[in-house]
Amino acid sequence: MSVPPAESSTWPQELPPLHVDDDWARAVVREHFGLDVEARSLGSQQDANFLLVAAGGEGAAGVVAVLKATHPAISSAEVEAHDEAADRIAEHCPDLRVATVLRDAAGAPQRRLVDSPDGPLTARLIRYLPGGTVVDDGYLHPSRVARMGELAARVDLALAGWSHPGTEGASEWDPRHGLAAVEAHAPWLPEGRRAQVLDTARAAAERVAPLAGLLPEQVVHLDLTDDNLVLSDTPGPRAAAVLDGVIDLSDLTRTWVVCELAVTLSCLLHHDGVLHAGPSAVLPAVRAHHAVRPLAPAEVDALWPLVVLRACVLVACGSHQVAVDGGNDYASSRLEQNEWRIFDQAVAVPADVVTGVLRAALASPAALPDEAAGRLRAAAAGADPVADLTGAAQLDLAWDADDLDGGAFLDPRAVEELAAARLDAGDRAAVTRWGEARLAGSPALSSEVPSTVATGVEVRPGHPVVLRAPWEGSVRRRGSRLELTGRDARLVLDLDRCERTPFAEDGPVGAGRALAEVSEGDVVGVQLLAVDAPDVPALVRASDAPGWLALTADPAPLLGLPAAPAAPAPGGAADDGELLARRDAGVLAEVQEHYYTGAVRPPRVERGWRHHLATTDGRVLLDVVNNVTAVGHAHPRVAAAAARQLARLNTNSRFHYAGVVELSERIAALLPDPLDTVFLVNSGSEATDLAIRLAHVATGRTDTVAVREAYHGWTLASDAVSTSVADNPAALESRPAWVHTVEAPNTYRGPHRAARGDDVGQYARDAVAAVEALAAQGRPPAAFIAEAFYGNAGGLPLPPGYLREVYAAVRRHGGLAIADEVQVGYGRLGSTLWGFEQQDVVPDVVAVAKSVGNGHPVGAVVTTRAVADRYRDAGYFFASTGGSPVSCAVALAVLDVLRDEGLQENARTTGARLREGLESLAQRHPLVGAVHGEGLYLGLELVRDRTTLEPAREETAVLCDRMLELGVVVQPTSDRQNVLKIKPPLCLDAAAVDFFVGALDRALGELAPPS
Ligand SMILES: Cc1ncc(COP(=O)(O)O)c(C=O)c1O
Repeated sequence: MSVPPAESSTWPQELPPLHVDDDWARAVVREHFGLDVEARSLGSQQDANFLLVAAGGEGAAGVVAVLKATHPAISSAEVEAHDEAADRIAEHCPDLRVATVLRDAAGAPQRRLVDSPDGPLTARLIRYLPGGTVVDDGYLHPSRVARMGELAARVDLALAGWSHPGTEGASEWDPRHGLAAVEAHAPWLPEGRRAQVLDTARAAAERVAPLAGLLPEQVVHLDLTDDNLVLSDTPGPRAAAVLDGVIDLSDLTRTWVVCELAVTLSCLLHHDGVLHAGPSAVLPAVRAHHAVRPLAPAEVDALWPLVVLRACVLVACGSHQVAVDGGNDYASSRLEQNEWRIFDQAVAVPADVVTGVLRAALASPAALPDEAAGRLRAAAAGADPVADLTGAAQLDLAWDADDLDGGAFLDPRAVEELAAARLDAGDRAAVTRWGEARLAGSPALSSEVPSTVATGVEVRPGHPVVLRAPWEGSVRRRGSRLELTGRDARLVLDLDRCERTPFAEDGPVGAGRALAEVSEGDVVGVQLLAVDAPDVPALVRASDAPGWLALTADPAPLLGLPAAPAAPAPGGAADDGELLARRDAGVLAEVQEHYYTGAVRPPRVERGWRHHLATTDGRVLLDVVNNVTAVGHAHPRVAAAAARQLARLNTNSRFHYAGVVELSERIAALLPDPLDTVFLVNSGSEATDLAIRLAHVATGRTDTVAVREAYHGWTLASDAVSTSVADNPAALESRPAWVHTVEAPNTYRGPHRAARGDDVGQYARDAVAAVEALAAQGRPPAAFIAEAFYGNAGGLPLPPGYLREVYAAVRRHGGLAIADEVQVGYGRLGSTLWGFEQQDVVPDVVAVAKSVGNGHPVGAVVTTRAVADRYRDAGYFFASTGGSPVSCAVALAVLDVLRDEGLQENARTTGARLREGLESLAQRHPLVGAVHGEGLYLGLELVRDRTTLEPAREETAVLCDRMLELGVVVQPTSDRQNVLKIKPPLCLDAAAVDFFVGALDRALGELAPPS
């Protein structure tokens, strides 16, 4: 609605609802537009909108148009402006759908002045955009958030330079006039919150005022929100739909351009992702906007105060609307569920802090000279000492601290322990570092984004220390905090964990005056803040850290200690983002992909312990995907074995040393007779490649039968038998002539399905028939290769008797049976050490890797002496580092750990608990089609329909991204990428299982289509 200028006393102007109904709409449409249709009212706030549905029409296809009855208070110039702007957006953005006014055969708009119980009003036929909005989606994926920012920028570019007399009035929804609107509506705000909203709006308006002259203006849509951006209406899942529709231009107005983005950002604040991660979760939208329409520094600085103003307007106008229109359930539920949430989230972090975050993300300088920051820096550099702690230990609590090895970072008392160790060693004090993202003590198994970045330092003295005023100022005590405010800076001493109370009284003090005395056992927090800075928490989220740190300075120099290196803020754009840019656009081949792309930034993971991974931001993630690290990350026995051997000798396996013999003997002993001869290699690809070559050489033939949809490696031969289209989309068409594939024996979704009661024995019979057919053509196969438990499909067991029948057929014709145990071998299945044991067979060649070295490159091929000997006749084998002394030491340590820690048994018991948890999810979430697998080799298959088994590929991708936000690393697998691959380190415990299942439950719940 366009209303008089903000200063006018005629605000507020909440319009009474129109008294028009479906019958009225139907009659209007028949009389004025000559259409005989049904009309169905759409909820709306002040205009009245009706879906016009052809008689007998069903669903979106039956909708002819939308009838928009505009409130009589809206002038015809405004209505014309709305229609013209819609046309202009449609013209400039041909890939978008826009709710333009329909035109008759002569090109005239379908717009009429019609009678209504509320007087004459304008009625228009508007293009209907099917697809729905995302306003009710609890969670918005970052790519959707980014798209909203991008669309705001594109609409602004489309409207740039355009003007119309119908856009000149000031809108009360415009954050530019937010303070006036809030003041006008304040009487309707709930009493308990009125002062807060008013104060907030005043403070935000004050922040914007000095920037006003620097903010470009134009006509903007001003309501590009989750209500007015429409999802594409293409067939397929909602998760794959893209926001491509723009509706409702009724808030069109001339204002600061950045108000457009502010409105869009504010609507994001009631969704779960933002509520969970804080305001920095809107960054994808800001970045995407900036990429299309770069924001000037003044726009960056005005953005969050305008978001805050918009939030204030929403709650103020919303409260008024509800009062005026008491029966409007739509308005009152919106107010409760969305608008107050938006307000609370907009003010959850001070506007200065969010502005600092935005500046860091866009590398945008402050628009106006930041005097406070300059004065703070000067005060920090030129002050008297607070205490002389020269030579005290400065604790390193970040991800790369050596003291955090051995999982020490997971100890909730890690900081205390490290400090105590330094004091015990005689250091005069232990002092933490400003600006550091602490990993020490960061919570594991937590879905909350932890506050890890230190905004000050903590001092743990080893002997009594007097803390003195570094400058003249005024002391104020607030609880256990003592603040000394000087001319240019504020010193905050947090004495909560100190035995004695401070002895400085409130009032003025001179430089050098004693403020407090602390001694051994005390912990005092020391912060240096800008004079007007808000209270700054001691630890803040890494994503918000650039904003908080900008309000602070490093107190270390005031304690006689070196300042922390001026490192970019952890998690900030210039730190890990820069490394990622080097990875993405630098020297690595593009095909060496990384997990998490697009609007989801991969965390930088630099540490691990057992089934935990730690990021450089100091967050601990649960690792559900690392089957390579079978005995857990950074296992001390494995690390020690590698270090010891590296310090002694590492060379090639042609030398004579114990490790190569011992390891070969230990691996051979794990396999049944007659598998007694071992080749040591570097990887799974090498292992399967060598297995195939052994078969070719031993049989003197090359034809090889493989199972479809499998992955066996990237080398020439292992790739030749790999037909997973997830790894290579052209896999099936590009097989060499010696490779023959048989149906993937997938009993869940293949042609023969267990749940349907099909005869799943048919898979084996078909594979046998393929072998026989080859033999009949005079090309009996040299080998049959398959995973002994069907990994790439997401951990399905093979049909009963499958390997027995197929192995027998291959052997009948002199071929060899190869079992790829790279994924499933070494105890992961729990009930058996090897996958082939489940089929009651013994292969001729077994390929194993991954777990063998717990991530160190070592693998093995085990076969019979006879086969190995044949290879000697025709092939050559030497892998310089295959079975090197270090590899052998590592692999031997892994075997010891597997045995000593009972990890196969743990895979069985913990795996059973996990499976049970996943099955309980299947009861509650229709998206879960099946739980596959055994032990700690499980797959959660997601389908859109349990009958058609339509793969929920896009949902799986969204789920994995959401799980990362909730603290879990899990990834999709299978040719359809719709199965969560669940293959954690074998040391996974019950607490981790319960946490994982809980996080999945939450993420699956958010994914459910809105009701
Ligand atoms: C079943 C299977 N075989 C072989 C390989 C290849 O192993 P690597 O990556 O160690 O070369 C993989 C890798 O994922 C695999 O899953």
